Amino acid sequence: ETIDWDPEDAGKSGYDHYMRKEITEQPRAIRDCLRGRIEELGGTVSLPELEGLESPSSVQFVACGTSYHAGLFGERLLQRRGIPAQTFVASEYDADELPVDEETLVVGVTQSGETADTMRALRGANRAGATTLALTNVVASSAARECDHVLYIRAGPEISVAATKSFASQQVTLSLLATALADTADPSSSASREHLRELRRLPDHIQSVLDDSNARSVAEAFLESDAYFFIGRGYNAPVALEGALKLKEITYRHAEGFPAGELKHGPLALVTEATPVFAIVSGREKTSATIGNVTEVQARGAPVVAVTDSPETVGSHADYVLEVPETHPAVMPIVANVQLQLVAYWLADALDRPIDKPRNLAKSVTVL
Ligand code: G6P
Repeated sequence: ETIDWDPEDAGKSGYDHYMRKEITEQPRAIRDCLRGRIEELGGTVSLPELEGLESPSSVQFVACGTSYHAGLFGERLLQRRGIPAQTFVASEYDADELPVDEETLVVGVTQSGETADTMRALRGANRAGATTLALTNVVASSAARECDHVLYIRAGPEISVAATKSFASQQVTLSLLATALADTADPSSSASREHLRELRRLPDHIQSVLDDSNARSVAEAFLESDAYFFIGRGYNAPVALEGALKLKEITYRHAEGFPAGELKHGPLALVTEATPVFAIVSGREKTSATIGNVTEVQARGAPVVAVTDSPETVGSHADYVLEVPETHPAVMPIVANVQLQLVAYWLADALDRPIDKPRNLAKSVTVL
């Protein structure tokens, strides 16, 4: 007697898809990413890879796809620390047309380190005299070899075309980078100490979401929707974009993400009973503006799914709640995104899509 064995399945450790395995691996990936990089006592970040890097006068992120969303998150982290930062879709970046000089740090965010558009942007930045940094997962990749500095995100191999754990590891690495760049001016401020403490707790926060998530039943409640919208503000805005990208990549359904305030400037015209709106909203947000946006879409009959750390206050405005643990505002989006990964996954699973290899997409796009 023989047992059927498919070499394709060998790496999945019993999961149906690499994507599910990689979502589940996130606590470990983040522990690996943090290892040795936070000084427990002083509450400071240690990134020996950046030795010799001068404090930049401004930072430009260049990236594609999911990595672009990580760049948008990094930009917010730096801006809030007083460091001018901007994110570019790599194919739109032209160092010759931008203010780029020796004091500019250009960061290529690229899981594979091989994306053609990102490499072209980095080479242009290099020619224009900028300092370049590769934030990548792949050791000795083109980006790692060609940039002046490299910071590895240490996510481990990612097989699924849809990026999951690499996005979490990029967000964590960017959090360390932002703290390191800011720390030269403001060593171990209490704000960065709280942030670092919550980064260390992040693997446990994500584990609790993985253990208790109701994302599958939420996904199954919306199998036949016309479109799926995602909104979030501030640190949560990039995750709204990423939630929509993940859903469209693997379910083939129409999905769009917006900074929450933009909803009323157009997309609201598309909102109906058949378009669920996923709102990522922290109970700590200074204003209740996002709740205002939620009330607007509810008034148009749209079902609302709140991804929130405050089920009591925010949840009362929603039809469904995907809860995340209370944490630092810059850590919440990393956890909230896990709930959205699971929604996309379970919806694609219910629709019987080829989750790990969506049609027309490639893991690494090496043509311009
Ligand atoms: C492709 C992949 C995406 C990825 C993007 C950027 O489009 O399908 O998942 O986000 O490339 O890849 P990189 O390796 O540069 O992060």
